[in-house]
Amino acid sequence: MSKDKPLRRSREQQSADVSEAQIAVHWPEEDYFHPSSRFIAQANLVDPGVFERFSLDKFPECFKEFADLLDWYKYWEKTLDTGNPPFWRWYVGGRLNACYNCVDRHLAGHRNKTAIHFVPELEHEVVQHITYQELFVRVNEFAALLRDFCGLKTGDRVTLHMPMVAELPIAMLACARLGVIHSQVFSGFSGKACADRIVDSESRVLITMDAYYRGGKPLDHKEKADIAVAEAAKGGHKVDKVLIWQRHPGRYSSPTKLVEGRDFLVNDVLRTHRGKRVDPVPMPAEAPLFLMYTSGTTGRPKGCQHSTGGYLAYVTWTSKYIQDIHPEDVYWCMADIGWITGHSYIVYGPLALGASSVVYEGLPTYPDAGRPWRIAEDLEVNIFHTSPTAIRALRRDGADEPAKYNHRFKHMTTVGEPIEPEVWKWYHKAVGKGEAVIVDTWWQTETGGFLCSTVPGIHKMKPGSAGPAIPGIHPVIYDDEGKELPAGSGKAGNICIRNPWPGAFQTIWKDPDRFVKQYYSRYCRNPKSKNWRDWPYMAGDGAVHAADGYYRILGRIDDVINVAGHRLGTKEIESAALLVAEVAEAAVVPVTDQIKGKVPDLYVSLKPGLKASNNIASRIMAAVISEIGPIAKPHGVIIVPDMPKTRSGKIMRRVLAAISNHQDPGDVSTLANPEVVDRIKELVK
Ligand code: WTA
Repeated sequence: MSKDKPLRRSREQQSADVSEAQIAVHWPEEDYFHPSSRFIAQANLVDPGVFERFSLDKFPECFKEFADLLDWYKYWEKTLDTGNPPFWRWYVGGRLNACYNCVDRHLAGHRNKTAIHFVPELEHEVVQHITYQELFVRVNEFAALLRDFCGLKTGDRVTLHMPMVAELPIAMLACARLGVIHSQVFSGFSGKACADRIVDSESRVLITMDAYYRGGKPLDHKEKADIAVAEAAKGGHKVDKVLIWQRHPGRYSSPTKLVEGRDFLVNDVLRTHRGKRVDPVPMPAEAPLFLMYTSGTTGRPKGCQHSTGGYLAYVTWTSKYIQDIHPEDVYWCMADIGWITGHSYIVYGPLALGASSVVYEGLPTYPDAGRPWRIAEDLEVNIFHTSPTAIRALRRDGADEPAKYNHRFKHMTTVGEPIEPEVWKWYHKAVGKGEAVIVDTWWQTETGGFLCSTVPGIHKMKPGSAGPAIPGIHPVIYDDEGKELPAGSGKAGNICIRNPWPGAFQTIWKDPDRFVKQYYSRYCRNPKSKNWRDWPYMAGDGAVHAADGYYRILGRIDDVINVAGHRLGTKEIESAALLVAEVAEAAVVPVTDQIKGKVPDLYVSLKPGLKASNNIASRIMAAVISEIGPIAKPHGVIIVPDMPKTRSGKIMRRVLAAISNHQDPGDVSTLANPEVVDRIKELVK
């Protein structure tokens, strides 16, 4: 790998930042809110000395404290091995099992405590309260099935395409028990998107469910498995077995037929595995625990590979001290386990601490915007975690709803996108009843767990700012030339992390070069260096560091759009559009949306001689949905006579983005075809 010169961002990217920066300017620095003395009195972390304990001169040994929250079969010999930068290895020589840490070790003290509250979307369905004992039994039986019936062993990969049901964490933990690497694909993704991930991870087994509820309606989910297997076969990869959980045990709820010899109903096969126990496999700390695919700058989603020891230590520590989870707490993270938030902060972190974690199947606003508060009241949830998109939707549809319920949160989290101060304040006042402490947590799929957040028992809160870095994380903001912006400068730049940390992903599955290039090479001081200090991690976000030490995240600096807190690559959507035969060129730009933060607008031009029609537009829409899923559905498909282009033929996304957002596209006179701009403006009107 050669040392890349700091890349100059293209005009398009710069302007994307300008619009983010404009948003930032509209958010003045806010007044502080203080955590209540009541919260502080019970908080897990109140000693500001923690930052001294985790200062850079204590690195990396300070991270021993993280790993000491876990049970190890064999204690590690070396906290951090930096021999092959930037492929950092944590807790080298140690052995542990993630499932043991999340299940078995709680049996002695908390056997009969609820591990998972499963709340079905339909309100008349029974809520399941799965104890640690029951979780232990179900995980063991399913692990036995994976091992004995599917022949899976340590190091194999398995793709899961599961909705939000208790069987999802059960399947993940069963994999972890065996040292099988799970790759859960968000259930809202299409069969095709699932296939891409099956092929890339070379999974021979697909675990899915027949159906699930969304907006009160049952969705046929099994049909996606058929598409996934067929598409994977086209990619030259054979899936041997499809394991199908039943949403209603004992009853098959999909109109899609089972394929003889390939499809198996889990509940049938489990009968022959009742009572089986599987010893947890003592895994090296560095063994991969799971893959989580995420969108990046180019092409297909990439498989972020997370480790067993470092990852689990990181999410456990941050769950304890940033989420402030105590064993007696009822904790509800209303994310989807199909994203990293759910892996880290519904499953692994809370269960490693022996908490009760809520898994909710459906939409936050189903059947009405009071639903989350009813669930919280019923289950006595006292820690609540969600995204700005969900908060905006709940505020729009039921600003006065929270006051009608007797739920009482001590702690609330927001994650995934910037939260507007007005929305933050409603969350605090209405949902948190002015009492709950709020943490705005900034992090990424790649980082495993939180990077920036206030420590709830120590810091005051500032709406719209994530807060300082958490203990052990040392950010730096660089400008485009690679110069460090002074701390507290208030200037926007690219946020990086100076030091490795245990939760960071290990590599991109089967693509170590891209791992190095995308995250480490831009600001690497010397590619030959074995010193971690020369290898800052580049997050890909613009950020501002204020004088009080709080970070405000401005948004992506690359071609990733954050839709409802979920990452979508513009390139992925563009490639889907190009599958429609008539399409010559496609360009996706982000449009600001009141609820979802951002949504994609899709501009296309057609091959010569073809005329725009509604039929073409709807086929393009359908292609995006079938390639990726409804989450990527464009806000609009705009068929243009030609794309605005530079003289060298580059599509000017900046101009399209301005038009979509009803802003001034600025000086377009240097374009090769300036006349097209007014025609596009007309079309968008
Ligand atoms: C954005 C989700 C502002 C950011 C955990 C990041 C945020 C991307 C915040 C990662 C926040 C996440 N404030 N922006 N608190 N949290 N982001 O991989 O742009 O789905 O790079 O991980 O979401 O999204 P991902």
